[in-house]
Amino acid sequence: MWGAMDQASQVREKIDIVSLISEYLKLKKMGRNFTTICPFHSENTPSFVVSPERQIWHCFGCGKGGDAFSFLMEYESLEFIEALRILAKKAGVTLKLADTSATSSKKEKIYSLNKIASSFYNYILLNHPMGKAALEYLMKKRGLSQNLIKTFNIGFAPPGRNSLSNYLINKKKNNPWDLIEAGLVFKKDENIFDFFRERIIFPLVDHRGNIVGFSGRHITENGFGPKYINTKDTLVYHKGSMFFGLNAAKEEIKKQGIAIVMEGEFDVISAFSQGIKNTVALKGTALTEQQALLLSRFATKVSLCLDKDEAGLIALKRSIPVLEKRGLSITVVAFDGKDPDDAIKKSPASFKKSLKNDVDVYDFLIGKLSKENDASSVSGKKKISDEILPLISAVQNEVVKEHYLKKLSQVIDTSYESLMTQLYKKEEDRTEKVFSKIQIKDRREILEEYLMSLILQNNSENNLFINSKDILTPYEFKILSLGKIFIELSSFFKKSKGLNINTFSKNLPKELIPAYDKCFLIPLPKFESSEKLEAEVLKVSKELKIFYLKERIGRIGISLKGEKTSLSDIEKIRDEIAKITSQL
Ligand code: CTP
Ligand code: MN
Repeated sequence: MWGAMDQASQVREKIDIVSLISEYLKLKKMGRNFTTICPFHSENTPSFVVSPERQIWHCFGCGKGGDAFSFLMEYESLEFIEALRILAKKAGVTLKLADTSATSSKKEKIYSLNKIASSFYNYILLNHPMGKAALEYLMKKRGLSQNLIKTFNIGFAPPGRNSLSNYLINKKKNNPWDLIEAGLVFKKDENIFDFFRERIIFPLVDHRGNIVGFSGRHITENGFGPKYINTKDTLVYHKGSMFFGLNAAKEEIKKQGIAIVMEGEFDVISAFSQGIKNTVALKGTALTEQQALLLSRFATKVSLCLDKDEAGLIALKRSIPVLEKRGLSITVVAFDGKDPDDAIKKSPASFKKSLKNDVDVYDFLIGKLSKENDASSVSGKKKISDEILPLISAVQNEVVKEHYLKKLSQVIDTSYESLMTQLYKKEEDRTEKVFSKIQIKDRREILEEYLMSLILQNNSENNLFINSKDILTPYEFKILSLGKIFIELSSFFKKSKGLNINTFSKNLPKELIPAYDKCFLIPLPKFESSEKLEAEVLKVSKELKIFYLKERIGRIGISLKGEKTSLSDIEKIRDEIAKITSQL
């Protein structure tokens, strides 16, 4: 893979990190930087910052950060070489990689094996006598056409222990280990077995068109094992990280701005057969953060169209805050039948009508709860508000939030104020929990970072630094890397006026770069004038100096007991503190 690093820096120069990240997230300008809600951890206020000058990103909430490559790798779960390929294409750089087999990643190996396996399964279903019963089941019992089978690339895994593995190993000359890593085969004692046997096979295709795994369904209602099984976790497949059908639905979702979320493969396929092509399937789990993020790239509204059983309702409720966090509007489709497949079989027309009459999720829940409980009794009021308040508190838009609080207040005939009080009680509980988890930095460290950010982010003149240095001589930084940067700055300013951040960073020792970069990302308040900014730098420098002096007094106090420290030394320090304090 030699040469890849050189080519990476060539690509890096041509990619603008702000426009790259803007393809995935809505960035907001804030001072010199851009911010947004972090896609890599759960949060309600933005701590994800991008610096156009340094071409880096960092999240102050979860600590992740890096450059364009690491963003893409993290966001799309790619390996370096895959990210390099994508970015090179964007940058118009032709990669000259030593040899292709060494540079194709482990993940790409799995995709290609899955592709061959998928053709094998598909062939068996459509052309082999072993697939006959399955084909009949699909066409007669489930009403699928040949076309639909082709569109979704459905297949059949034959019953033998080694049908697929024999084909892949003997005919296609693959290594058994690779098949195990792809999850197509498992090893027991000294033998290998096909993972899917005697099941209808649905390839699970991610939004970029890679087959990441499979799901397999029995053709009879009482076969061996569960009705559906799915590829176990592999390098490329993690439960809850993708949707069935997204690749086929992506364009239509973009066009309409709406994604319809269903539970199962057959729900999506049935909808598709009726021309409803913006649907995806969760595959029986509640919607994950990762899935919500994925949808938010293509849709602004999500219509939940889940099964009408208890599990479906639980999945619905769990999905609401997850979708809210990504700013998606949420509706519910109330259809007639046990699941969408069933409803569509009953009447495609009335299913389409219910799609058109989708209900805002909070209206749906308030309506449902007030039907099921007695909204005039105390226990009914409590039940309804306990269920719905936590959900309403996650609503991002304040206007929408107030609208539903008012509606709830009418439905359970309780004052708006009581609801607000109850709402904030719940939120306080939650914040306390969150805060107890976060390690709190001490004030001195925060101030050191703040000071350095003030200086570095306002680099046009050198007087900010010089003024601060006057006060902070002597001073010992608690954050060692910042102390070192401070020293570097002072030798830099001896030679030159004004600071070009990129020239300065080129001569900075490598281990100081992360701390340096962080100072460009810390959000700063706006200052009305350069005088106000200067005053702030002085104030922070003085406060830090006091910390330092107090610490020294403390140390002297300890050594006094043992050694002979002159009282005049202590006096001197006391005077210094008094002087600075009076200036503050
Ligand atoms: N599922 C799964 N594993 C299971 C059961 C279900 O992965 N053991 C997923 C499947 O994707 C399934 C979806 O959850 O399609 C919904 O489950 P369920 O409603 O039980 O199945 P149906 O979609 O109704 O299945 P079918 O129409 O094939 O009978
Ligand atoms: Mn179902």
